[in-house]
Amino acid sequence: MIQKPRGTMDILPGESEKWQFIENAARNVCKKRGFNEIRFPTFEETQLFQRGVGNTTDVVQKEMYTFIDRDGTSYSLRPEGTASVSRAVIENGLAYDTMPLKLFYIINCFRHERPQAGRYREFYQFGAELFGATTPSADVELIALANDFLKTLGITGIKLHVNSIGCPSCRPAYKNALVKYFSSKSNELCETCQNRLNTNPLRILDCKSPVCSKIAFDAPKTTDHLCPECSAHFEGLKARLDACQIEYTVDPHIVRGLDYYTRTVFEFISENIGAQSTVCGGGRYDGLVEQIGGPALSGIGFAAGINRLVLSMENGSKYNQKKNSVDLYIATLGEAASVKATEICSELLKKGYSAETDIVGRSLKAQMKYANKINAKNTLIIGDGELESGKAQFRNMENGEQSEALLSDLEKLENLLK
Ligand code: HAM
Repeated sequence: MIQKPRGTMDILPGESEKWQFIENAARNVCKKRGFNEIRFPTFEETQLFQRGVGNTTDVVQKEMYTFIDRDGTSYSLRPEGTASVSRAVIENGLAYDTMPLKLFYIINCFRHERPQAGRYREFYQFGAELFGATTPSADVELIALANDFLKTLGITGIKLHVNSIGCPSCRPAYKNALVKYFSSKSNELCETCQNRLNTNPLRILDCKSPVCSKIAFDAPKTTDHLCPECSAHFEGLKARLDACQIEYTVDPHIVRGLDYYTRTVFEFISENIGAQSTVCGGGRYDGLVEQIGGPALSGIGFAAGINRLVLSMENGSKYNQKKNSVDLYIATLGEAASVKATEICSELLKKGYSAETDIVGRSLKAQMKYANKINAKNTLIIGDGELESGKAQFRNMENGEQSEALLSDLEKLENLLK
């Protein structure tokens, strides 16, 4: 028996409706704020992620699905969307369009992680990216979009955490302060963080190991080391979040796992889904477009993990499970009746109704059982007698009312369906 790859999932009918609910909410909030959809390849040249996401990140070092193509080029399945969107913006000349440029995507991503609840090797993201605006208002536009989206889903117990990790001019001094602090305790750090001390000391701040997080608790805070410009930006952000009545906590431990961030970083964290609790994360990335060969173009964005949102919905949401139902099911007896039913179904489908008839060759009794199973709102039974008289029994399955339908009068049949 061949099984699905580890860390992937089948999303079956009954469950897929929840995914549609989330995707529709994403599309609706984006439309309201003028974000348009972008689609891009599932795989890209590996160097895009190495240069964009960053060579020292876990995502690039350990988690990418990389393969060498027949012509020798190294490609990787996308571990996230921001690098690809930035590449597409440069390649298609969008960087010279009217700014701001507001894009969104709903994609699958691939990371070779250790699977657990809320962590998969193929997972889905709804992401949004805004280019060409450096003001704190742009940051708030993005955070408000994510906030609107999560509110639309009605999932409770989600909190916004924000931080600023500074810019290339103030971060080196902050990194030095961090390295100094952690070096004095380096023997106690986990093995990964001992390596991070040399490569990416900021990541020690969000290490989940109890010992590292205890040490990180008293570490120097980014917000105490910001240059005047980054500090003003962060103050501007907070003032606008207050103005929009978006609740948040300033959390110095939010540093994010990808290298491209500058200044604002944020995460929406759920209280109800265990260790993998970040349902949405993002931030500003003012150097990324240039880093991958484009013009100086600022950006800010986020991505929400759809798998984790579906998990969070189990604790309550605005999702209302409505069973799919069909307007009319036509049960038939005999070849001629089946042809007539096919004709009626075809006409009704053209007019926008949903309609089904037997295509399996079941008995009349089994057909009626099937009509119940698919939640048919109405049924019609056609046999030789009905074909002869031109009249058939129509039944409203919701209230049990029966009436006579004329097989030659589609308009009357439509009236019964309304
Ligand atoms: P990220 O934090 O790596 O950021 O991922 C965003 C979200 O994707 C996470 O908060 C989580 O909900 C979900 N996610 C990540 N990895 C997994 C996994 N293995 N299984 C299930 N869900 C997962 C980014 O990807 C950035 N591109 C976000 C961004 C956009 N920043 C700026 N613009």
